Amino acid sequence: MSGQIPQRFIDDLLARVDVVEVVGERVKLKKAGRNHSGLCPFHQEKSPSFTVSADKQFYHCFGCGAHGNALRFLMEYDKLRFPEAVEQLAGRLGLEVPREGADDPRAQARERKRKEGVNLLELSASYFRERLKMPEGESARRYLAERGLSPEVQQTFGIGCAPAGWEGLKRHLGERGIAESVQIEYGLLVHHEDSGRTYDRFRDRVMFPIRDIRGRTIAFGGRVLGDAKPKYLNSPETPVFHKGRELYGLYEARQADSRLERVVIVEGYMDVVALAQFGIRNAVATLGTSTSEEHLSRLFRMVGEVVFCFDGDRAGRQAATRALETVLPQMIDGRQARFMFLPEGEDPDTLVRREGPAAFEDRITCASPLSEFLFDHAAEGRDLATIEARERFASQVLAAIGKLPEGVLKSLLLGELSRRTGVDQSRFEALVAPAEAPPGEPPLAPEPEWRPEDEWRPDDEGYEARPAPSKGRQSLGLMGRVLQLLVHEPRLVERLPEAADWYPEADPEARLCREVERLLRAGRYRSAQVLLAHFHGTPEGERLAALARRELLIPPGARAAELDGLVEHFQRHRLRSSRQEEVDALLSKQQRGERLSQEERQQLMTLLADPRG
Ligand code: GTP
Ligand code: MN
Repeated sequence: MSGQIPQRFIDDLLARVDVVEVVGERVKLKKAGRNHSGLCPFHQEKSPSFTVSADKQFYHCFGCGAHGNALRFLMEYDKLRFPEAVEQLAGRLGLEVPREGADDPRAQARERKRKEGVNLLELSASYFRERLKMPEGESARRYLAERGLSPEVQQTFGIGCAPAGWEGLKRHLGERGIAESVQIEYGLLVHHEDSGRTYDRFRDRVMFPIRDIRGRTIAFGGRVLGDAKPKYLNSPETPVFHKGRELYGLYEARQADSRLERVVIVEGYMDVVALAQFGIRNAVATLGTSTSEEHLSRLFRMVGEVVFCFDGDRAGRQAATRALETVLPQMIDGRQARFMFLPEGEDPDTLVRREGPAAFEDRITCASPLSEFLFDHAAEGRDLATIEARERFASQVLAAIGKLPEGVLKSLLLGELSRRTGVDQSRFEALVAPAEAPPGEPPLAPEPEWRPEDEWRPDDEGYEARPAPSKGRQSLGLMGRVLQLLVHEPRLVERLPEAADWYPEADPEARLCREVERLLRAGRYRSAQVLLAHFHGTPEGERLAALARRELLIPPGARAAELDGLVEHFQRHRLRSSRQEEVDALLSKQQRGERLSQEERQQLMTLLADPRG
């Protein structure tokens, strides 16, 4: 899957798909003169200002300014990345997406193997589904009926069954020319070392296909029909399946609502399916693992809010503690995480059946926000009337707050902690902030890792904290992050583009950054100390010193990429705003009733149609 997609192919693709069709599959459109129009999917509106032009092959919203071609639409609406959108469009036309450098035989072999795997997994999924309709699926059908799964929801999730024999799937795939070695590699066939025999991994089980975000089957989970062990059997790790990053039900949730805003993370396959059957179609499950950072970062790319759902028992509380640890570093502004606990002895499957979907929805709505859970959790089992207990409570909360990225949530939690303990907020701020270096010491001395319990002990008067820093800390904007990287690692200056046109014009921090870049490039300021000395005594110097003191949380190996990403962000932003200005000017000219020249019309079309705009 590596290699660039040739521009020629993209152009060709756009020439062959119809934007009206692509949009029309997702938005209700009405023909209006030469164009189609409908309610804009990108903002809330009551009367249609969204138009799609078949002639020009682009969409445009006069309400919110959203515009672009078919690829852009898929990227925005289905939240796909560019290559994914290309794959999707190509798939509609039955085209292969070529990759530059794809004639490399190794790349070709890799690609062939990937296809083979995908094909084999799809074949297996339909084999399992078919079995469920046959006489041999009788016991599985009965089991599913006993568990109360409707035929509709079985179909939505593609549920099937593996029959009881040892070689059903093996024969089925073998007849279709799939080598045993490939079946083994994709976890469908087990090779018994001692006897040399091979047999189906999944036997006499209800089969849940695990799909990737585009709906392709990448693995299976199989449940026994009774109480035998293991209850669930998952595919092993394969070239297309990595247990720690996939979420069961994510594809189906997105199918149910492509503009998903909230996802509920539950424990099991059955929970996801049962909730969906009762109309709660935004549940996903990890595959028997705890929620990983990767799970969360994938989810937060798609939705703003994640609700963790746990059993009410001890194991559930422990799982919640782990989830809290994992989610804290990801809580940038605009994201929400909440925690819900079910009554003991229930899981979402049993509960939604017992009390109905409305009551379950209420539980989701009432789930504790992260802040509440964090404080409750820290207070648990402690009598906060004593100083010692309050100290430990505050230590625990502070340790958690220390993991949060800078932002509103962090300040709010510090404020709340101060309210609950009666200790001045500035004291806590001092504790979560990297310490101010004492005067005279080199500002870049590495920060020792600091744990609240090491240094912070109550004395008789109450709390003894380190002295607060002289001033409140400024928050770190994107340009601040560029500066911080340069101050900590001056040699990174070489990665900045030669031309300075990526700097945002109005940003004072950008001016400072340009100056720093100039000095570093001039070559005499290769260490941060010398750089700081240059600005000593000025407000810029103070800002740079503050950035130097602030711990750089990005690991050394990732800094260059981080800087590249930031610069790219500014470049894109700039490009977009200059394009937007030009588009706006042309459109308003048109709206004033002035005719656009042939050239201007051409330009408008190009601007609106460019997928990278
Ligand atoms: P039901 O008993 O069918 O309702 O399943 P459940 O979804 O309530 O399962 P449970 O709470 O026991 O387990 C939750 C999840 O943990 C399952 O969906 C599986 O992903 C995983 N799991 C449970 N048991 C096993 C097992 O024996 N092996 C493996 N690999 N995973 C399991
Ligand atoms: Mn269950």
